[in-house]
Amino acid sequence: MNSQFAPMANILMKSNELREKFLEFFEKRGHKVIPSSSLVPENDPSVLFTTAGMQQFKRYYTNPSDAPAPKIVTCQKCIRTGDIEEVGDDTHLTFFEMLGNFSFGYPEKEGSYFKEKAIKLGWEFLTEELKIEKKRIHSTYFEGKTEIPADEESLKILQEIEGLEEIKPQGFDDNFWSLGTEGSPGGPTVEYYIDGIEVWNLVFNEFNFINGKYEPSQHKGVDTGMGLERLLTVINGKKDVYETDLFEPIISKVYDELPLDPSRDVEYARIVADNLKASVMIANEGILPGKNREEYVLRRLIRNAIDHCDLKEYPEWIKPVIESAIDVYCEAEDFASLLANKGKIFEVVFEEAKKYSEILVSAEKLLNKKENFSEKDAAYLHQTLGIPFGLYNDYSIMKQTKKLSYEKFLEYEQKHQALSRTASAGMFKGGLADSGEQAIKYHTATHLLQQALREVLGDHVAQKGSNINVERMRFDFTHPDKMTPEQIKKVENIINEKIEADLPVTMAEMSPEEAKKSGAIGLFEH
Ligand code: SER
Repeated sequence: MNSQFAPMANILMKSNELREKFLEFFEKRGHKVIPSSSLVPENDPSVLFTTAGMQQFKRYYTNPSDAPAPKIVTCQKCIRTGDIEEVGDDTHLTFFEMLGNFSFGYPEKEGSYFKEKAIKLGWEFLTEELKIEKKRIHSTYFEGKTEIPADEESLKILQEIEGLEEIKPQGFDDNFWSLGTEGSPGGPTVEYYIDGIEVWNLVFNEFNFINGKYEPSQHKGVDTGMGLERLLTVINGKKDVYETDLFEPIISKVYDELPLDPSRDVEYARIVADNLKASVMIANEGILPGKNREEYVLRRLIRNAIDHCDLKEYPEWIKPVIESAIDVYCEAEDFASLLANKGKIFEVVFEEAKKYSEILVSAEKLLNKKENFSEKDAAYLHQTLGIPFGLYNDYSIMKQTKKLSYEKFLEYEQKHQALSRTASAGMFKGGLADSGEQAIKYHTATHLLQQALREVLGDHVAQKGSNINVERMRFDFTHPDKMTPEQIKKVENIINEKIEADLPVTMAEMSPEEAKKSGAIGLFEH
């Protein structure tokens, strides 16, 4: 199992130095250094995890007088579960750190700044502090959209920068940033790229998202975000984030512990390293693996790392990998709690890994014993033990038996879920907890969304839950694959057409049988 993985060579700058350089650079320029907030945001039920540096400061954009200082700098721990499918490529990570500088209450707050200073500080940090060659850098700005003008002001500032040779206009999807929740700040962005890789996003909050529109905001502010791991990669001339000091020791351990071939199993090794590092960070917040919210994410990440592993009888392989994920951060101030919580983190992550490995081993035994293993058996084991569907098909390929049908598996899943749904309650309960106008709109939108999903993806799409509050709606549904950007666009177009058609909404009372006959779709078993 010895690793052929290249040892860390030619590291020009390590993560600790880069973090310090960034914080010091902005501190010297009047910013207050604030520690990273928790990975699980306090008092913000709209998200499970902190996904950006600005999250802990959200309210200061609309209420700048609450801000502890007009200028702030941070290095924020983040988790993005939306990128989980991309993990394994060169740049996407589940856990990462975001370097950011912020300004609030421009122009009225003394010391605050906006586009000009933010763009110039960014350029100075990259070219003078980090000494990145100017010709390796290019920049983008917002080219405008029907109701939002192009950001000519930023363009002019960028054009004045000596040595910045390329400035490209880009559209709303790339160069406008907003949380998209009611009342939240948003605005056009300027991005800096190094060697064609996007490293820094400078957001100029000059709008508030109100009733589905971007209204000019009374106060302006700056929110920038630069992924530490990505920046480390480019300044060290590495190919990918896994070659930096924040990953290389973990990847090395993965190759030491698992029977892998670095020429073939690169993606798999990366997934294991990423998922286990993220698990360590979540466990460090005191979260235990479970069925809901953050707890479920932790469980999925640990189980995903195990699903990828051939050593189900020997879950101990995970221990040195967890150890290296903690060691990587042992000198970083913001991570002191990792060392303090080390024993607990080990226990939590290893116990879940062990339990899941045992489940998989017994499932394989069952598969070996039972001839004609069916979709019904697979659904039962998934519902009761959490065994992933993929396991059966990997197994059947190995044993050259028949492949199970995912459609059939889903049918049994749905039957089982309909039976157990009555017992479920709490966070993921469907329906309307709030009957305000915005919540009613979101509720109607779930119906439009379900129909549009069925048209684009197929009739297997079924609602699995929905949760609505005044700021956002969530809709869970069954579909075996990640949706492609084209499919998402199609669904959006169908819904927007229906909204624009302004169809009348009517109400009629009937029995569930009559409703089903009339073509209504619903959770009638509820
Ligand atoms: N909020 C922006 C982002 O997440 C900039 O920090 O990219």
